Amino acid sequence: MKEFPIMPEVASSFAWQVDLLYYFLSIVTIVMTAGIYLAVFYFAVRYRDRGDGRLPADVHGNTFLEIFWSVTPLVFVLIMFFWGTVLYFHMAKAPDNSIEMFVVGKQWMWKIQHPNGRREINEIHLPLGQPVRLTMASEDVLHSFFIPAFRAKQDVVPGRYATLWFEPTKVGEYHLFCAEYCGTQHSGMIGRAYVMEPRDYEAWLAGQTQESPVEAGRRLFETYNCANCHEGENQRGPSLLGQFGKNVNLEGGQQVLFDEAYIRESMMTPMARVVSGFRPVMPTFRGQISEEDILRLISYIKSLTPPAAPAATAPSAPAGAGERR
Ligand code: CUA
Repeated sequence: MKEFPIMPEVASSFAWQVDLLYYFLSIVTIVMTAGIYLAVFYFAVRYRDRGDGRLPADVHGNTFLEIFWSVTPLVFVLIMFFWGTVLYFHMAKAPDNSIEMFVVGKQWMWKIQHPNGRREINEIHLPLGQPVRLTMASEDVLHSFFIPAFRAKQDVVPGRYATLWFEPTKVGEYHLFCAEYCGTQHSGMIGRAYVMEPRDYEAWLAGQTQESPVEAGRRLFETYNCANCHEGENQRGPSLLGQFGKNVNLEGGQQVLFDEAYIRESMMTPMARVVSGFRPVMPTFRGQISEEDILRLISYIKSLTPPAAPAATAPSAPAGAGERR
């Protein structure tokens, strides 16, 4: 098996579940296809024209057969559907205790930032046995973040956030790919994922001190004079304190979840959805701020969440709290 592996290494908590579903699909496909071709072959031989002028009798339907060959495939595809759906939902929702990391795809590299601020390019160091949630953005075109050994793959579309989570279960070094054609150097947009013992990861993290995303975000918040409108008296913009993860009322009566996507949208196209009670006076920051800086600003805005936050923001709260030491 070492010389001819069918699947990549199994190195994340749900990798074997994906494989199991895949094997099921493959076996059903092989058995069905083989059955059909064997039947075609058998009938071709058995009922061939023997040159004696005999013709077969006409057959006008067979209710049992028709129900059998309709219901049997239906059962199999429904198994595939429900199995796939359950697995999909499991893979879509990161556990609450996940570590949060940022990934920005850019022609032609992956830029990663850890919760303490350590950054790397085309390499991602990960602690063993700890769920990790990636918030991913693209600086230019569509890329796809793919670590085959984790069975984790997610398109990163410009202009919106993608998330992906996994829990590495095996120490080692694994391929990291861009799995979507993104220009001439697409094939060079590759890297490595290093899964380390948690204490090795801690040591690695401490090896280089950099401004944490929250600190960098606070600095950017000052650079762009966000506080002029969003803090203090006579606010021209809504307060950002404790808003993350809550529903916000909009001009026009609708509501929107105050999440990463809404914060980003409000910087890029501020007129799109204005918070109730405010005039549409915010300027756009489109083209003036990088995706990485937007993610840092979001980290800072998230850190403004008070401790009694709703469960939806729980994963981010410990990271933010830790960084304010
Ligand atoms: Cu990025 Cu292909």
